Amino acid sequence: MEEQIQGLRQLIETKETLVNSKFISIASGKGGVGKTNFAVNFAYTLANEFGKKVLLIDADIGMGNVHILLNMNPEKNMKHLLNGEDINDIITHVKGFDVLFGFSGIDSLIELEDLAVHRILSGLDKVSSQYDYIIIDNGAGISTKVMSFLRASNKAYLVTTSEPTALMDAYALIKSLNRLYGYSKFKIVVNMCRNKNEEIEVFEKLNNSTRKFLDLNLSLAGGLSYSKNLQKAVENKAIVVEEFPTDSYSLDMKRIASIEVGEPIKEENPNFWEKVFTFLKRG
Ligand SMILES: Nc1ncnc2c1ncn2[C@@H]1O[C@H](COP(=O)(O)OP(=O)(O)O)[C@@H](O)[C@H]1O
Ligand SMILES: [Mg+2]
Repeated sequence: MEEQIQGLRQLIETKETLVNSKFISIASGKGGVGKTNFAVNFAYTLANEFGKKVLLIDADIGMGNVHILLNMNPEKNMKHLLNGEDINDIITHVKGFDVLFGFSGIDSLIELEDLAVHRILSGLDKVSSQYDYIIIDNGAGISTKVMSFLRASNKAYLVTTSEPTALMDAYALIKSLNRLYGYSKFKIVVNMCRNKNEEIEVFEKLNNSTRKFLDLNLSLAGGLSYSKNLQKAVENKAIVVEEFPTDSYSLDMKRIASIEVGEPIKEENPNFWEKVFTFLKRG
């Protein structure tokens, strides 16, 4: 069985057409599937295990909880950027990577003068160029905000569990992005796996549907084990890869990060922020 799984994984990996990319969105159809834990632990692992310069952005409007996992009470967030403060004073360095908290102020974007938008864009562009990876933790579902970030990203890590509702919602998100915008750069993360087969089984279920109904092949990023230590870490406002580096979740995370780091860099993504802002404004 183990061999079969390895074989399948290789098959999936050789079909891999995605490339190493800077702007990575983390998304899910349904909430509570482990998206924020994935985003924070992925950022930590890329930074501390692979020496990458990482900026993590909490774009889960109204529900953002990156700061809770990081045990922080941030004074500055995106709103301060819109108010004209220097982006370097807003970004917080924590646990080996940088974080930009909260996007709640983005609603006021419509009322901003072009000059202000331009200043914000150039601030974001300038800092973005300093990072190897910009990881964006999005809210669940199919809002315009989520879609705007996803459409502009080089790659979308879509987190799901084996639960039928999570899979249905993941499919709905993929379908919307694909049908409306032709977006196809999905990597599937199967979270809370209770055994080795689960990651392949769940991935195949989703991929069979997208192949059949959307003519779209997904990529498998990998599975993440169900982890009591992750829950313990969350309760202690800590993160599992730091607190329990040998936990199976942490080892799974390393595997997913090493695949990301190993993907060749081919794709440039100029004007990422301009795209996001345009999509946010026009829908
Ligand atoms: N791999 C896992 N094993 C066990 N529990 C998990 C795992 N991933 C997430 N959880 C649980 O799910 C909860 C919600 O996770 P979170 O990352 O906040 O989800 P989301 O951002 O998708 O809403 C966590 O607080 C934790 O209790
Ligand atoms: Mg979340």
